[in-house]
Amino acid sequence: MAKPGPALPRHIGIIMDGNGRWARRRGLRRSAGHKAGIQAIRRVMDAADKAGVHCLTLYAFSTENWSRPRQEVATLMRLFEQTLQAEVDELHRNGVRIKVIGRREQLSTRLQRLVEDAEQRTADNSVGMLNVAINYGGRAEIVDGVRQLASAGADLSQLEEDQLAGALYTAGLPDPDLIIRTAGEMRTSNFLIWQAAYAELYVTETYWPDFGADDLRAALADYAGRDRRFGGVLEPR
Ligand code: FPP
Repeated sequence: MAKPGPALPRHIGIIMDGNGRWARRRGLRRSAGHKAGIQAIRRVMDAADKAGVHCLTLYAFSTENWSRPRQEVATLMRLFEQTLQAEVDELHRNGVRIKVIGRREQLSTRLQRLVEDAEQRTADNSVGMLNVAINYGGRAEIVDGVRQLASAGADLSQLEEDQLAGALYTAGLPDPDLIIRTAGEMRTSNFLIWQAAYAELYVTETYWPDFGADDLRAALADYAGRDRRFGGVLEPR
């Protein structure tokens, strides 16, 4: 039977791409693109909240991004630290729970401490949920989930989907209904590959630093017009 999705996604995943191209187009350093990307995050969080979407997952740094020039990796790590420090208070006041997903043990001790502090302080919030994927890879997440179950003594020969879903970084959250990718590439790049199995994809040419409230509204309008079948048949609306 057709299972039409609700008109509004409960959870949106965002692949924030195009910071570098945005900067190059302006004759700026790539770091300027990443800084402008943070402003876009603020705009989009605000617009999502106003639209009634309260769970976002942002792809900030993949397990593959370590291969970028050392200087750029350092800039990004510094930006994560600064942004966490600068934004936690306001997010907390607004009732947003923060969670960093990914292999955090490879992050600097300083960043790990900031992440733990932000997570602990906001752990009881329930108005909104912000997941930030740092040193994240979807395949690594699945491997980590299986390892966790194995070390807890689970019988992996009887493994069920729900069990594995409960061992992923996103345990307890609804699966993303919508994945937005900016800057035109038609790929999901190892992002939430388990959770996004039935997500709708929305790709825009807009570079992430230019993405704003209107762009989010356009993505939501597009999503609202999709027929979600979850593998079933399409029934007339
Ligand atoms: C992709 O653009 C963007 C990233 C790899 C980094 C995303 C980071 C931010 C938006 C800033 C910090 C975020 C948080 C959550 C504090 P790209 O560099 O791959 O752009 P290009 O493909 O045009 O080169």
